Amino acid sequence: MSIIEKAFNKAKGQGQGQITNTPLELLGEEINLLNVTEVEKEALINVNNRPNTSSSNESKVAEIDWLKLAELGFVTPGDSNTQAIEEYRNIKRPLVNNAFGEASAGIERANLILITSSVPGEGKTFTAINLALSIANERDKKVLLIDADVARPSVSKILGIQSSPGLIEYLEGQDVEFSDIVLKTNMPGLRIIPAGKQHKHSTELLASNRMILLAQQLSNRYPDRIVIFDSPPLLAATQGQVLAELVGQVVLVIEAETTPQSMVMESTSRLASCDVVLTVLNKAKSTGDASYYGYGQYAH
Ligand SMILES: Nc1ncnc2c1ncn2[C@@H]1O[C@H](COP(=O)(O)OP(=O)(O)O)[C@@H](O)[C@H]1O
Ligand SMILES: [Mg+2]
Repeated sequence: MSIIEKAFNKAKGQGQGQITNTPLELLGEEINLLNVTEVEKEALINVNNRPNTSSSNESKVAEIDWLKLAELGFVTPGDSNTQAIEEYRNIKRPLVNNAFGEASAGIERANLILITSSVPGEGKTFTAINLALSIANERDKKVLLIDADVARPSVSKILGIQSSPGLIEYLEGQDVEFSDIVLKTNMPGLRIIPAGKQHKHSTELLASNRMILLAQQLSNRYPDRIVIFDSPPLLAATQGQVLAELVGQVVLVIEAETTPQSMVMESTSRLASCDVVLTVLNKAKSTGDASYYGYGQYAH
């Protein structure tokens, strides 16, 4: 039984709250509980059965600082760095195909993608942001970028977004609704969930039933949206591995000529239960016509 099934069963066992057809607000869109299975209904009600006292981020638009982003070497819309654009196109193609194309058959939660690495500094955030921008830049593609590296959050800072409540506040569950933490951005199709405040129990929160249900909801309700999680590293703590079990696809970023092979082997063994693991060789020295990034894929 998967941890998601266990969470649903646990929520079902608690069985509190009367089932209503109240629409739930997620990503600013209404979900009618009539279309949700019985087990899901109870789990969702346990998660959402709180008074709505907080103000929503729905109307706020976070202005991404494109100039700063370009200065930091990110691939921004209108960028003329054709090599980098092409490399991210190559990296995103199989991910998007697995999420929406024929290849998605059999991959559960294929639209949820975790970007991780063995240790800090290998380029998770760099890859997560560039992939999010590259996918959101496509017509008709919507992306939600979640900063789940809650111990070392950096997405908001890099994008030049003011700090605001984020994943941690939502997982704490203190009257914070999902719509309170989702920020629209000045890039159509791209929304952000910041990490939120530092929390001494962030490990437990990332492994909580509320996180598991959030992943399930994101996958079930938004199959047309790519959700990218910027993850903690795999070898420093357990959160990365826990998150990897919640998503359909994992991208393992490997810093070229720096990360020892033994660490990469250890990381891949920790991802053994994941359906799809793709690897990106990052910060490789450019050698003429050769691609800056290596790219490989294995599936279990
Ligand atoms: N492909 C790349 N090209 C240039 N700089 C990069 C690249 N990947 C990462 N960096 C830089 O390396 C540093 C560490 O990357 P970061 O994404 O923050 O790592 P992580 O999130 O894994 O800790 C950052 O300063 C980032 O801008
Ligand atoms: Mg990072």
